[in-house]
Amino acid sequence: MNRTVNCRLGDLLLSLSQAIDMMNSCLVGHHRRVAYMAYHLADALKLPPEEKQNILLAGLIHDIGALSLRERLDMMQFESDFARMHCEAGYYLLHLFQPLRGVAEIIRYHHHWWKEVPAHRRVPGAKGDGFRGGQILHLADRIDALINRQENIISQEIEIARHISAEVGDRFMPAAVAAFNTIRQYEYFWLYMSPYYIQRKIREYLEESPVTEIGLEELLAFSEIFVNLIDFKSRFTATHTSGVSATAVALARLLGFEEDRLMLIRIAGNLHDIGKLTVPTEILEKPAPLDYKEFSMIRSHTFYTFNILETLNLPWDIHKWASFHHERFKGTGYPFHVKEDDISLEAKIITLADVFTAIAEDRPYRSGMSREEADAVLESMVAEKRLDARLVEILRENYLYIDSARRTAQHEATRRYATFQDHLHAAFPKEQAAADLFF
Ligand SMILES: [Fe+2]
Ligand SMILES: [Fe+2]
Ligand SMILES: [Fe+2]
Repeated sequence: MNRTVNCRLGDLLLSLSQAIDMMNSCLVGHHRRVAYMAYHLADALKLPPEEKQNILLAGLIHDIGALSLRERLDMMQFESDFARMHCEAGYYLLHLFQPLRGVAEIIRYHHHWWKEVPAHRRVPGAKGDGFRGGQILHLADRIDALINRQENIISQEIEIARHISAEVGDRFMPAAVAAFNTIRQYEYFWLYMSPYYIQRKIREYLEESPVTEIGLEELLAFSEIFVNLIDFKSRFTATHTSGVSATAVALARLLGFEEDRLMLIRIAGNLHDIGKLTVPTEILEKPAPLDYKEFSMIRSHTFYTFNILETLNLPWDIHKWASFHHERFKGTGYPFHVKEDDISLEAKIITLADVFTAIAEDRPYRSGMSREEADAVLESMVAEKRLDARLVEILRENYLYIDSARRTAQHEATRRYATFQDHLHAAFPKEQAAADLFF
């Protein structure tokens, strides 16, 4: 298998942007509009191409650290107590992925006020460390919050400019506001923000930017960001994805998959529940049975997984491997009702890994099943044509090996989750209670 994936970082972030915006219907398009405006401002300020690109990419995912619904809603207010925390959380999630280090720094400061930026960074022409990009993003983010999307966008120009000017030099960077005051006079600047054009515009800007291609190892590292993004959303399932990936890889190893294919299985495992970003945390955490409406939201999540991953245009069917884990062999699953012959071995592996992890892992409201209980459940699911008999056989024969791979991965994930929380608590000692609300 070929190790080059020919995947462009910009395309990945555009897809991720869509995933974050789906978390809340009020936010549809927010990230793309902010990226568009921030890029425009950076261009007007004649920033170097690499910084412009980082600002564009940061705009596409700037609120990635805002993981819970409560946080998402709060963020739309002009003044937000949680603003700093989601900046730090976003920085934390991204900074370990080397190609996004510069982007992470910009996101870290996207709610900093101009007067809080260290003096030596405020002199004209001073660059670096994400402060300047953060300031530009801050302005673009606030402009977007001031736009009333029910009304004609051009007619709001003067009123928005009045709000922004009232805080120049205090909240907003003077040079960025000056750039805004020039470009706001062009009608096209506003009109391109329509949902019909914005995607095309962002693609155009990505084309202008230096292209960063990523290989299989980097794609895997990128998918690890999603693991944290998905699992940190709810403490009830805070290690689920890690368990699924590890179980799937252990099964695939037993089937003799070579290294590259194992890596792809791990990526599919990491991304299988990315569509859950669209499901409110309250539903994910509800310890009681779900009602019809709530279950309908759950039934949508693999459809979103399919579509988010399909847009990544990967040269394999990873989107199918990842998103068919609730399909059943007789066509009674969701969302596509595909039948056994159209479900690949890889998708069957992810499905079994998902079921096994869900029944074997401890949840806050119940402990995981014993080996005997798990065996019985798996057997009955084989009889119902929901799981592949041969794969279940392999799992049962190698139970200790697979279960310990799952446990180790989930312990590791618990440690990662605790480190993430510690980082936020250390950064915001006074807002300890607020930090807890995050999860
Ligand atoms: Fe934000
Ligand atoms: Fe935002
Ligand atoms: Fe799922």
